[in-house]
Amino acid sequence: MLEVKEVQKRYRRKMVLHHVSFQMKEGEIVGLVGENGAGKSTLLQILATVLQPSAGELRLHGKRYEDDLKQIRQKIGYVPQDIAIWDEYTVEENMRFFERLSWKRRSLEECRNLCLEMQLTQWKEPVHSLSGGMKRKLNIAISLLHDPIFLLLDEPTVGIDLKSKTEIGNYLRDLAKKEGKMILYTSHDMDEITNVCDRVYSIGDDPFYTSLLKERGIVVERLS
Ligand SMILES: Nc1ncnc2c1ncn2[C@@H]1O[C@H](COP(=O)(O)OP(=O)(O)OP(=O)(O)O)[C@@H](O)[C@H]1O
Ligand SMILES: [Mg+2]
Repeated sequence: MLEVKEVQKRYRRKMVLHHVSFQMKEGEIVGLVGENGAGKSTLLQILATVLQPSAGELRLHGKRYEDDLKQIRQKIGYVPQDIAIWDEYTVEENMRFFERLSWKRRSLEECRNLCLEMQLTQWKEPVHSLSGGMKRKLNIAISLLHDPIFLLLDEPTVGIDLKSKTEIGNYLRDLAKKEGKMILYTSHDMDEITNVCDRVYSIGDDPFYTSLLKERGIVVERLS
């Protein structure tokens, strides 16, 4: 379980997150929506331990982030908004490289299966020759190497075709429903949010996304 209490973030004078409080349970897949600059990536970075909040408390499985950051980090998988992989190396080489950095040992076959489960089949091809969608899939596969229980994805499906988008959406839903992972992800695609997520949170005071989702019968809870 994830518990977020009264989290705030300020960049110098600018207040980005105001009193964010919410909870998530195992097996839930939750969407985070909001206009550009609303603070979605900031919140994901705080939850991923990449950024410190200015105030507030975070707990994963009852443990406070500030008490045991190392242990918390081992339970979290994070895919940042900007793709972070080695362009000149193949899919296999990237998976081998990140497996070495991971807390959990994985065989080459397990690494390959993580890719295949998302229909990423170009094992021997250099990353620079892959499409944007395939690179995203590789980023997600890397984030799953250490078998995290909490997965944070910042716009994992931006700019990719409907087929890859659907494959990624289905895969994430399976991860939540079959493996009990908690998944929080941001997207600007309301069709996808409607199809994939159990619940939706919004950040920012622009009612645009909230009313779009309301028309589809999705209740959106405002966080900040
Ligand atoms: N390192 C930083 N220093 C100062 N201000 C920042 C920093 N990072 C983000 N901001 C500001 O904080 C606000 C929220 O940014 P953030 O990237 O979290 O928004 P977002 O909701 O993810 O937007 P997008 O949909 O464009 O990805 C913006 O006004 C941004 O300019
Ligand atoms: Mg962002």
